[in-house]
Amino acid sequence: MRRLVLFISVLAVIAVAVVIVLLRPHVWSVAEREVLRSLWIGSLAPLEKDPSNKFGDDARAARLGHKLFFDKRLSGNGEIACSTCHQPEREFTDGLRLAEGMGPVPKHTPTIIGTAYSPWFFWDGRKDSQWSQALGPMESPVEHGGARTQYAKIIAADRFYRNAYEEIFGKLPDISDNQRFPAIAAPNDVSKSSAAWSAMRAADRQTISRIYSNIGKSIAAYERLILPGASRFDRYVEAVLKGDETTARQIFDGDEIEGLSLFIGEANCIQCHNGALFTNNDFHDTGLPPDGDAADTQGRAAGVKMARADEFNCLGPFSDAGADDCGEIKFAKIAGAELVGSFKTPTLRNVAKTAPYMHDGQLATLAEVIDFYNRAPPSKLGHSALAPLGLSARELKKLERFLMTLDGPIKAPKEFLSAPR
Ligand code: HEC
Ligand code: HEC
Repeated sequence: MRRLVLFISVLAVIAVAVVIVLLRPHVWSVAEREVLRSLWIGSLAPLEKDPSNKFGDDARAARLGHKLFFDKRLSGNGEIACSTCHQPEREFTDGLRLAEGMGPVPKHTPTIIGTAYSPWFFWDGRKDSQWSQALGPMESPVEHGGARTQYAKIIAADRFYRNAYEEIFGKLPDISDNQRFPAIAAPNDVSKSSAAWSAMRAADRQTISRIYSNIGKSIAAYERLILPGASRFDRYVEAVLKGDETTARQIFDGDEIEGLSLFIGEANCIQCHNGALFTNNDFHDTGLPPDGDAADTQGRAAGVKMARADEFNCLGPFSDAGADDCGEIKFAKIAGAELVGSFKTPTLRNVAKTAPYMHDGQLATLAEVIDFYNRAPPSKLGHSALAPLGLSARELKKLERFLMTLDGPIKAPKEFLSAPR
C-alpha cells in the first residue's frame, strides 16, 4: 500500500514537472526582444514615395494598373497577363518550378507582395523601380510576347483605357498612322519587331516609350497597394512585447518558439532575412546548384550592369526623378567576386504557401530548403555566403514549424485581389 502511494506521488510530481516545463514562459532577453520587434509587421515603415514615378500613389493610376495587370490582350497571343504568373490566390506566384508564359521562362516566379519596398527587382536586380520592372515581361518573347507599339495602340483604342490614361497622364498623342507607328515594334530580341522599331523616327519611338512607361507606372501604382498583413508570428511578438506571457503561449507552441529562437540565433537566418519583410533586399550566393545557361547564372554581377544600361532606370528620360534622387543606381556596386552567382534575398512572409523555392525553383519544399541551409554546400560559381549549421533533425523541423507561422492575409483593397469587372 505504502509503495503504491509512493509510486503515485512520484508520478504526480513528474506530471507537474512536465506541465511546468511545457508551460514555462520563454524568456527573451532585452536584445532578443528588439530583434523580434524589428521583424514585427508593426515595424514596417509607411512606403516611401518612388521619386521616379510621380503617379505611384495616384488612386486613378492604381485602378488603371489593376486592369492592366489582369488584361490578357497585353500579350502576343491574347492569353497572358501579369496575373497568369502572379496569381492573387497563390500569393501572387504560380506554383511552378519555372514560369511559363508564351514560352518556358528560365526563372522561378517570386511574389509581388510587399516588393514595392525593394530597391531592386528581379532575382538579379536588373531593374531599379517597380514601374520599369513591369516593362520587362511585357516585351519578353517567352512571357507576354508583345511589343510596346501594340500596347500603346490598345490604350488608344479601348475607351476605358483612353479615358483613364488621359485623365492621369494628359492627352494621348495621335499614333494611328500605321506607317509611322507599326502594329508590332519593340527594341526586344525578336528580329521582326526590333527591325520595325529601328526603322521608326527617334521622336516617334520616344512618343511610344513615354506611353509604355506610363503603363508601367500605372501597374506599379497598383502593386504598391499589395502588402502583407499580420501573421500569427506578429500576434506572438505583440504579446511578447506587452509582456503577456499567457497569450504568447496560446499563440506559439514550444517548437515554434524554439524555431524562432534558432532563426534569430544559432541558425543565423536573420543575417539576411531581416526587417519586417524578412529580407535585407541584398544579393547573395547561397551555393545553389546553377540551372540554365552561363549568362543566366551570373546573378547580380550581370543584373547591376543591365540596370545601369536600362533606358527606363531612375536616371533615364522617362523617370520623374531628379538626378539627386537616384543614388541607388548611381552608386551601385558593379564589380566584386561576391556578385557572381548572387541573387536577391526573397521575403519569407507567406513562404509556406509559395513552394517551390529559390531563383530557379531548385528546392521543392521548405524541408528541402532548411536541409540545404544545414548542409550549405560550396558554390560552383563563386563563394557561398553560408556555412554549414550542423543542426539536428528535430531542430530543422522546429525551424520549419516557425516559418509556417509567417502566413498572413494580403493587405490590399479587396477588389484588387481578383480580376476587375
Ligand atoms: C510568364 C510568367 C510571368 C509573367 C506573365 C509576369 N511575370 Fe513577373 N516574374 C516572373 C518571373 C519568372 C520573375 C523572376 C524573373 C527574374 O528574376 O529573372 C518575375 C519577377 C517579377 C517581379 C520582381 C519581384 C522581385 O522580388 O524582384 C515583379 C514585381 C513582377 N514580376 C511583376 C510582374 C508584372 C507587373 C507583370 C506584368 C506586366 C509580370 N510580372 C508578368 C514571371 C512572370
Ligand atoms: C547569406 C544570406 C542568407 C542567409 C544567412 C539565409 N538566407 Fe535564405 N535566402 C537568401 C537568398 C539570397 C535566397 C535566394 C537564393 C536564390 O534563389 O539564389 C534565400 C532564399 C530562402 C528561401 C526561399 C524563399 C523563396 O521564396 O524562394 C527560404 C525559405 C529561406 N531562404 C529561408 C532561410 C532560412 C530558414 C535561413 C536560416 C537557416 C536562411 N534562409 C538563411 C539569403 C540568405
